[in-house]
Amino acid sequence: MLSVLRRSQLYVPGNNEKMIMKASSLDCDSVILDLEDAVPSAQKERARSLVRKMTSELDWGKKEVCVRTNSVATRWGKADLDQLRPVDRLDSLVIPKAEEDLTRVYKQTGKRLIPIIETAEGLEEIGTIVCSRGVDAVSFGAADFAFSVAGSVDSYLENPYVKTRIVVAARSVGIEPIDNVFFDLKDREGFRRQALHARALGFSGKQLIHPSQVSVANEVFSPKPSELRWARGVIKQYERAKGRAEGAFSLDGKLIDAVHYKIAKRLLKGSDRTSGNEHEGGR
Ligand code: GLV
Ligand code: MG
Repeated sequence: MLSVLRRSQLYVPGNNEKMIMKASSLDCDSVILDLEDAVPSAQKERARSLVRKMTSELDWGKKEVCVRTNSVATRWGKADLDQLRPVDRLDSLVIPKAEEDLTRVYKQTGKRLIPIIETAEGLEEIGTIVCSRGVDAVSFGAADFAFSVAGSVDSYLENPYVKTRIVVAARSVGIEPIDNVFFDLKDREGFRRQALHARALGFSGKQLIHPSQVSVANEVFSPKPSELRWARGVIKQYERAKGRAEGAFSLDGKLIDAVHYKIAKRLLKGSDRTSGNEHEGGR
């Protein structure tokens, strides 16, 4: 299994050279160069050429470099797959409006895939989508999803049913769920609240639309000092209790047993990954 940090995945319009250059120096875990909804029809070809060139030429450091293609059911999407396949430094393709098995996309491109669930059909088919070969994470597009079900964007940005469904489908096959973008750039507190809620549901990170959101996402999706203190305490006491042939004990008035020990171990492993912003594997 690959181990790539995806606390912060920043979208950048694929037709904006200046923004692409800036993104290469930011502290996000992934950059997603967008060829889909941020690029008007008349600029699709130009954006694709620019993205190919900038992906190869810029120094992206340890970042995961992703491109969001156009829907693979469209002629633009088909051309995106064709022309992005040979780009070596491109790590992953973000596939919008995924609604079916993506194994053929993986076979055609050899790139890791991050489908976005953003239609009613996509949510109905999520079990098939996450089992496709090459799929390494899955995300949620709340605005398109709201459009698909004739609901409101604000409501679907927070919808616990859809979000939990995505987390469960992803975790059941050992891949990462990444939470939706947050559109209101002025509402810093709202962004943080939504990110905290996403982490509590089990998401590994968040897709972002502005550099100002990167540091908050990196912080929220890394273990907090208080969590690490709790984890170290649990591990120490649990191992001592085990030595006395006891499987459960109380810590600060709360019962601790085998599951808390597993949670504590995972928190410490998460802190090892995030402390050096290490990207293992993938390339
Ligand atoms: C993102 O693509 C969305 O539809 O919200
Ligand atoms: Mg969308």
